[in-house]
Amino acid sequence: MGDAPLTAVIVPAAGRGERLGPGAPKALRTLAGQPILLHAVRNLATARDVDVIVVAVPEEAVEESRALLAGIEMPITIVSGGDTRQDSVARALLALPPEVDVVLVHDAARPLVPAEVVDRVAAAVRGGAEAVIPTLGVVDTIKEVDGEGVVRATLDRSRLHAVQTPQGFARDLLQRAHAASDGGDATDDAGMVERMGATVHVVPGHEEAFKITRPLDLVLAEAILVRRRASGGVG
Ligand code: C5P
Repeated sequence: MGDAPLTAVIVPAAGRGERLGPGAPKALRTLAGQPILLHAVRNLATARDVDVIVVAVPEEAVEESRALLAGIEMPITIVSGGDTRQDSVARALLALPPEVDVVLVHDAARPLVPAEVVDRVAAAVRGGAEAVIPTLGVVDTIKEVDGEGVVRATLDRSRLHAVQTPQGFARDLLQRAHAASDGGDATDDAGMVERMGATVHVVPGHEEAFKITRPLDLVLAEAILVRRRASGGVG
């Protein structure tokens, strides 16, 4: 690989996917006939500025995942994930080659992320931002509700952003954030670096980078793949 700085993508894919209903771990469930993880990693591998990929999967799925991703032309390391997303990311960080100086973290559960979003995040970090997240404006009005089911506040929608992945970081910053919060269960890496006092920049996300969480999301994802295939794109 030489000494040139590299960009890595860490793919947390070790979740159980219980909100999708009973079955295999979410990343190994199929979408248009292929596992979600394969869609996600293949998409990431087409991005311009991605050199290596590290995937965290459930321990019992390591061998199966290695075989699944073997045909993708990119150095891919598979590690066993942890009990929380944060733990899975921390384990993947340990497997990064030394030449990596920019790290993106991308949920396997967002398999249809367009390569342009990956490149936008990577370019912003390469351009000097220490932390970058893709976001979309929210379409619903969001209210803060207390434990009694009573509305406490209506938030100003124009200032709210829904956050997607990949989130991009200077490697050193992300590693320090994980070292500082050993054993937590952050659902978002940017939140961890915010707590370190880092400045997190926003770039435009994409509707198709949505997270597959509930059964209806699978229906939407399959429809997008059908449309992409009909227009000659890869799925
Ligand atoms: O549960 P949620 O959808 O927020 O998970 C986001 C991502 O984190 C998914 O890609 C999931 O596979 C991953 N994850 C993980 N290890 C866990 C829990 C979640 O890698 N223990």
